[in-house]
Amino acid sequence: MRASSLAFECPTPVAPILGVNDDHSDDLQRRLAHWNRRRLSVGKPGSGWQDDLRADYQMSLVEGVFIERERETIAARAALAPTDVEGFIAWFEALKQTGPGQNDPLFPWLAETATYEEMRWFLQQEVAGEAGFDDLVAMTQVKMPTRAKLELARNYWDEMGRGAEAGMHGPMLDQLAKAMDLEPTIEGTVAPSLALGNILVAFAATRRYAYHAVGALGVVELTAPWRAEKVCEGLRRVGVGKARKYFALHATLDVAHSEAWNAEVLRPLVEADPDCARYIAEGALMRLEAGRRCFEAYRAALWA
Ligand SMILES: [Fe+2]
Ligand SMILES: [Fe+2]
Repeated sequence: MRASSLAFECPTPVAPILGVNDDHSDDLQRRLAHWNRRRLSVGKPGSGWQDDLRADYQMSLVEGVFIERERETIAARAALAPTDVEGFIAWFEALKQTGPGQNDPLFPWLAETATYEEMRWFLQQEVAGEAGFDDLVAMTQVKMPTRAKLELARNYWDEMGRGAEAGMHGPMLDQLAKAMDLEPTIEGTVAPSLALGNILVAFAATRRYAYHAVGALGVVELTAPWRAEKVCEGLRRVGVGKARKYFALHATLDVAHSEAWNAEVLRPLVEADPDCARYIAEGALMRLEAGRRCFEAYRAALWA
């Protein structure tokens, strides 16, 4: 069946028809979060598959409008990223200090001041917005050139605890959630946290945003250690024991992950195709900007 014979062709303009008027509204981010949950779940064939595909088509348009608008907000800054390898790596690494949301005062406060209940609320938001780094890396590596793919594989293998369940990162976070009795739900999560997860899933699940995914995941590795260290400090202070392992691990391991990502993923990709630097830069900036909005929303709720 040709796309043009479908009854639900791409409406123009898309945004008002699909109800995407406010990119950060609770409603839009909840719709995307519920859709992502469904489309990434392990499923079985059923009679409703054609309805599911129609819904997927509509939601892909909604997602596309959201992502393209996000691209516009950081386009000017992304355009400043150099396209030569050395220049690009230096620009990318500088995001650790100068990127949106870096050194946010929320984290020293979590380390030094937040109560157990405040830590719990913060973590509940973070866990609900968590898209699963392991799966995002797995989806991103599809059809990547060999050197980049090998590093994505090594990173994924670390996420998998190098084959041992006790070392897997996802379940480690689940253990913390269990120990602190977190109840992460889409309905109970602030829109910026859902938006962050929605952006990462859009990148990893959509091949036209594959370079954006590389930038976004790379910038997580680059910037996570400082935040993880502060959260770990806060958890220790309020009496969380072994369950804080997820944050203790990422405070150190991601330093090595970031170095390897920059050397083995970013370098060969930009060397082979300087044009991709722009998209890697956009992905990194969009992920950092989404994080900045989360920290702002968390502070507004916690410091009210
Ligand atoms: Fe991890
Ligand atoms: Fe990592």
